[in-house]
Amino acid sequence: MIRFDFSGTTKEIIGQAGITREDIESLRPLTEKAHALLMAARKKGDVIFYDLPERSGMVEDTDAMASGLMGHFKDIVHIGIGGSSLGPKAIFSALKNPLHNYTSSPRMFFLDNVDPEYMASLFGMLSLKDTLFVVVSKSGATAETASQFMTALGLMKERLSDAYKDHLVFITDPERGILRQLAYELGIRALSIPSEVGGRFSVLTPVGLFPAAMCGLNTKLLLEGAKKMRDIITQDDVFKNPAYLYCCIHFLALKRGANVSVLMPYSNALYDIADWYRQLWAESLGKRYSIDSREVFTGQTPVKALGATDQHSQVQLYREGPFDKIINIMTVDRYRADTIIPDVLDGIDEFSYLASRPVSDLIKAEARATIASLIDAGRMTTHISLDTIDEETVGALFMFFEAATAFMGYILKINPFDQPGVELGKKFTFALMGRHGFLDLSESIESKLKTIPGMNIEI
Ligand code: PA5
Repeated sequence: MIRFDFSGTTKEIIGQAGITREDIESLRPLTEKAHALLMAARKKGDVIFYDLPERSGMVEDTDAMASGLMGHFKDIVHIGIGGSSLGPKAIFSALKNPLHNYTSSPRMFFLDNVDPEYMASLFGMLSLKDTLFVVVSKSGATAETASQFMTALGLMKERLSDAYKDHLVFITDPERGILRQLAYELGIRALSIPSEVGGRFSVLTPVGLFPAAMCGLNTKLLLEGAKKMRDIITQDDVFKNPAYLYCCIHFLALKRGANVSVLMPYSNALYDIADWYRQLWAESLGKRYSIDSREVFTGQTPVKALGATDQHSQVQLYREGPFDKIINIMTVDRYRADTIIPDVLDGIDEFSYLASRPVSDLIKAEARATIASLIDAGRMTTHISLDTIDEETVGALFMFFEAATAFMGYILKINPFDQPGVELGKKFTFALMGRHGFLDLSESIESKLKTIPGMNIEI
């Protein structure tokens, strides 16, 4: 189903900058401990993403709610941000036709930014009587999500009066938070995100499953793919466990100065999975303190790139720029649709190699060419190839990257499941918006935002 080829990171293939089997074996004390701790945390119920495929009642409740609502709405607006949006968006992009919203119903919109222009355009275009709003927030307290929910609610109350309740689904914590409280008080449909699962590890909960079901995707197959992968990536032997091997290679790369991890799928459909990975790897691993409270300032900057498009934008840097990257190329063996390039330019020798060939031949050749050219330049390059893109492979990829990220966190000796670094920005926003209890931060904000004469040019 999925092949992981790490040869392009080895000394045999890329020369001096590469790693050896011995390098990986030398990490054994670290990997054995990380594996033991991670599996103990899983057993204790502290790390539950591994076991979501078997979560009792979760997929059944999700599918049942979706089947009761399907066919009633022309548009679905998914309101949420970060972990409450990137996963469902990745599923939709990977598994629905790229032009789905132009050709099919229900159209799916992801409202994951408080960009006033986008919001005004979207709300201005929707026919509220045909729209379902899915409001997703684990905490129920996120300002961006709250503002969009309030906007939707205001419009619905005005135009649909009490019927607005039929146009809302909440996906939130089973007990805590304002959304859960409102669900009880107002009688709004709600699905639960298991309380132990953090936002960016929640794609295989109703957060990702409900929108998938509403679009007619097979949620059970998503979980089946994740489960099959889970059974492979919980093995302790690093050389049989692709998530652990991916992590060890990234750890060794980081130690050699590769502060950047690029994920570059050769598929538009997989680009939002790279976006999801970008949050997962960044927010989980970018940490100031280790679990024993030492200042470590660790992490690896994830970058998303798109093949073949970014060959004409990024690859120059990847090949000839600083040795600060590990590049992960993702390819697809069988694309779900193809186009034969017609033989229309008879006599033009420069293009004859393209004539009568499927476009997939070209993108596959470009991926192989990029891998070879990066290797030629001594750049650490991995190759993840999917047989095809379907529910099972996508579910498997989620599980793979979540396990790799959690394991990397344990190897780096940091907590991969928290995000203390985003808290201060949230508090400053509350202060700037005049929220009670946060106003005493105003002075500190102003001192940071003051302008220095000569360093501030208006034109
Ligand atoms: O991974 C995380 O925890 C975050 O990205 C959250 O998903 C994001 O901040 C949104 O939070 P919430 O779902 O509570 O609205």
